[in-house]
Amino acid sequence: MSVERDLIAKAEARTAVFGVIGLGYVGLPLAVELAAAGYRVIGYDVNRRVVDGVNAGRSHILDVSSERLAPLVQAGRLAVTDEAKRLVEADAVSICVPTPLSKTKDPDISYVMAAAQALHGVVRAGQVVILESTTYPGTTRELFLPVFENADLKVGVDGFLAFSPERVDPGNPTWHTRNTPKVLGGVTAACLRVVLALYTPVFDRLVPVSSPEAAELTKLLENTFRSVNIGLVNEMAIVCDKLGVDVWEVIEAAATKPFGFMKFTPGPGLGGHVAYKKDSDDLRESPALDVIRLLLAQGADVGYHDPHVPEFSEDARTLRSVPLSPEAVRSADCVVVVTDHSGVDYRMLCREARAIVDTRHVLSEYTRA
Ligand SMILES: NC(=O)c1ccc[n+]([C@@H]2O[C@H](COP(=O)([O-])OP(=O)(O)OC[C@H]3O[C@@H](n4cnc5c(N)ncnc54)[C@H](O)[C@@H]3O)[C@@H](O)[C@H]2O)c1
Repeated sequence: MSVERDLIAKAEARTAVFGVIGLGYVGLPLAVELAAAGYRVIGYDVNRRVVDGVNAGRSHILDVSSERLAPLVQAGRLAVTDEAKRLVEADAVSICVPTPLSKTKDPDISYVMAAAQALHGVVRAGQVVILESTTYPGTTRELFLPVFENADLKVGVDGFLAFSPERVDPGNPTWHTRNTPKVLGGVTAACLRVVLALYTPVFDRLVPVSSPEAAELTKLLENTFRSVNIGLVNEMAIVCDKLGVDVWEVIEAAATKPFGFMKFTPGPGLGGHVAYKKDSDDLRESPALDVIRLLLAQGADVGYHDPHVPEFSEDARTLRSVPLSPEAVRSADCVVVVTDHSGVDYRMLCREARAIVDTRHVLSEYTRA
């Protein structure tokens, strides 16, 4: 039997073993879906706390309940290690390591490079590697083809390589890992066939494209589309503010157009999981942190409320979320609203607060701050 047919048969029988590198917001939900679909899953993470927590059946990710995770761990379907060499047991390895922005706002691909490094000496004949991390077009071939070449494996014949961008939206109650269509691009047609077979039991809809570059650019287009439109609507909010027009009235009216328009709403910044993703406990790139830092730098005594972020550390001090009570609001000289209003009693804020800066309404105030 060819290596390709062998892997497809293992996918159909669910006897394939999956490795998942990086068990964060993306990797843990993926590992759970793989295990729930019937595969045995070996997670690999460099963070000991993540390894111990998941092996104890405790989830550190909001979208994955411990009630869902624990039975999969207890049944031996999912186990996590901090030893990269265990990945040799896997037939397919999905890579979900972070690609944060560096201090200079360039994508930091050191984690992806570390994952490629971890696979050197591990990758073997009959293995599949699927990169899921958000990255620049060309990464899959550039960083992962050499992993196979160094092991004297011909991609598409002895081993298989693909890119499949993650689209998770943490906190979204409707769209989650399984029911969000999954784009796939293989280095060869055989790579695509193998990954399609492996992911068919895991995702409701797969969207094959012709190459890893097409899949990488699909993700780039999606992220650029979001950023450009958030930037556009924020500019529109500033224009409306200057003209004395209610930006929300304008947006709601535009949103009645049944074609050619997609509604985006103003926020305090372009990026960040709190900024454009609601109901998320992911603080990275949050403009709320910028606001807090600016206020702290001015010597302000800052408290905050966020039901998803009980505490966080800033400049060696730990800030803790305070309950959103009339007393807490009254005790503040100024309340800055850096979120949509869905989780906030906005009428109570208006009643109790002496001053409100709502960064969703008064973006120019935020810019001036
Ligand atoms: N979080 C989202 O909303 C989201 C959405 C779509 C795409 N993505 C993309 O998915 C990728 C993963 O993001 P995330 O939010 O899950 O990251 P994360 O920070 O939540 O999790 C990453 C995990 O990888 C582990 N890790 C880091 N380096 C490692 C290494 N060398 N080997 C093994 N484990 C390692 C970390 O310990 C951590 O547990 C990124 O490229 C991100 O841009 C994220």
